[in-house]
Amino acid sequence: MKLLAGKPGWTTKADVVVIGSGVAGLTTALNVRAAGLSVLLVTKAKVDEGSTKWAQGGIAAALGPGDTPDQHQLDTLVAGAGLCDLAAVKVLVTEGPEAVRKLIARGAVFDTSESGEISFTREGGHHRNRILHAGGDATGAEVSRALLEAIKGDSGIEVIEQALAIDALQDAQGQVCGVTLHVIGEGSRDGVGQVLSRAVVVATGGLGQVYSQTTNPSVSTGDGVALALRAGAEVADVEFIQFHPTVLWRDTAQGGQQPLISEAVRGEGAFLLNHKGERFMQKKHELADLAPRDIVAKEIFSQMRQWNIPHVWLDATGIKDFDLRFPTIFASCIANGIDPRKQLIPVAPASHYASGGVLVDLNGRTSVKGLYVCGESACTGAHGANRLASNSLLEGLVFGARIASDIAANLPEQSTPVEDQNEGFLLSPAIKLPLQLSMSEGAGVMRSEESLKETLATLTQLSTRTSSEPRIEAWEASNLYILAVAIVRGALERTESRGSHWRTDYPLTDPHWQKRVVQKYDLSGKWSVRFVEVTS
Ligand code: FAD
Ligand code: SIN
Repeated sequence: MKLLAGKPGWTTKADVVVIGSGVAGLTTALNVRAAGLSVLLVTKAKVDEGSTKWAQGGIAAALGPGDTPDQHQLDTLVAGAGLCDLAAVKVLVTEGPEAVRKLIARGAVFDTSESGEISFTREGGHHRNRILHAGGDATGAEVSRALLEAIKGDSGIEVIEQALAIDALQDAQGQVCGVTLHVIGEGSRDGVGQVLSRAVVVATGGLGQVYSQTTNPSVSTGDGVALALRAGAEVADVEFIQFHPTVLWRDTAQGGQQPLISEAVRGEGAFLLNHKGERFMQKKHELADLAPRDIVAKEIFSQMRQWNIPHVWLDATGIKDFDLRFPTIFASCIANGIDPRKQLIPVAPASHYASGGVLVDLNGRTSVKGLYVCGESACTGAHGANRLASNSLLEGLVFGARIASDIAANLPEQSTPVEDQNEGFLLSPAIKLPLQLSMSEGAGVMRSEESLKETLATLTQLSTRTSSEPRIEAWEASNLYILAVAIVRGALERTESRGSHWRTDYPLTDPHWQKRVVQKYDLSGKWSVRFVEVTS
């Protein structure tokens, strides 16, 4: 069932609509345009809002001396805990270096050593330094800047800001042929309108706002994933929400986006301490503090639970010129009264990344004709049960280019949307906070059948709080609700612990579960599930 919204008051057209202006949307738009097609890029806030500009650590690619795509592949597969799709990982690591070179050709500038060579750092799960970074810890801002400059220089790409995509338009066969959207604009394009197009690319990023504390910005409400579900597409691996181990701990009462302390800080020598001043990662993994992210997050969480403490400590006092190497992190620590050159940084895990999303093939195609998904909204299978650090920006670059090639080769004629006869569904914006708290409580770093069922019961109660007033907050809250249900349902199905899905009642990884939980949502709002074996 689609979202309740007013009838479109205006119509526009493009060959391809791209929803979202992060690394995935911008890369796709530039490549679609290079194939000679017209592109309309819509984005719900300002053009640089989204996770991309917040990315700190960098972009992983086998570009350094002695590195190879095979080594990058191995680290990706290990982090993915048996659930990566080998073909998707191969595409990511083999096409990654060229995608990064293309980004550099488009104007992105990465940090270099004194001799002018690109500097590579390390993050969790990587066995070598393979992460390019910019501005020390402002990689995403540089990627965003370079891609936006390239977009500005192309008159064939129209951009509409403050334009929230609501639902897909579909023809009588279900093929996607445009989107409805709400624009806070002026003149002829204000309020609810529609764009007719021959293909739609969803690149709306993550869904961190499903949880009460997240590294994600406020726009990360998973709108595109919910839109795709309502259009009949499948989602996979959504139970694998990655919790970043080292998010600056401030005060549990403060919800929403929290400052990240990049894994690259540990890559440059920082280490974790418990409240007794003891290092606790060394005995847990051969990579110690640089173990894959799920392992470090779980261990921090265990320490917090065992000693009933709200955070652990990160000791970065040994890093030379911290303020120069990590200027963004330094500024946010100082703003919160901590000088990381002299003081320990209090850190705790927070929701960070959706390793799953809309199930797509190697060309970003969903099971619904005309609908493509790219970036964090997609499940290509490259991340499995736990994404390897700094593989996300790379995924946007690599799969954005592939989607554009597929669209250029297979673009159908424009078809005619059929009007949806259902009334549409909408929840009150007031459900957002209780939903986030319930998800953090029952479907967070650790889950159990009991906690998940309690959360599902809360969600069911919240679903009775409907609204008849279509507006941005209500559309976002309704999308968060759909995604929360999908996450909890997926987490209940998976009766094992694997990657970033940790069930206290099923603490072991079960080889029987080397499969994907694939979910779908039908027109009447009913969910169905199927399982897909994974051989990686
Ligand atoms: P985003 O960059 O989130 O862009 C989504 C876009 O969609 C935004 O423009 C948003 O406004 C728009 N949008 C959303 N809903 C709608 C709607 N309904 N209608 C219209 N537009 C909509 N990854 C790495 O690889 N390396 C890192 O160092 C790294 N560090 C990170 C640090 C932080 C703090 C965070 C939050 C993430 C980090 N990640 C990192 C993850 C990575 O940044 C994201 O996964 C990636 O940028 C996602 O790109 P995207 O294009 O898919 O989505
Ligand atoms: C970080 O810098 O720690 C985040 C990197 C990522 O999410 O890939």
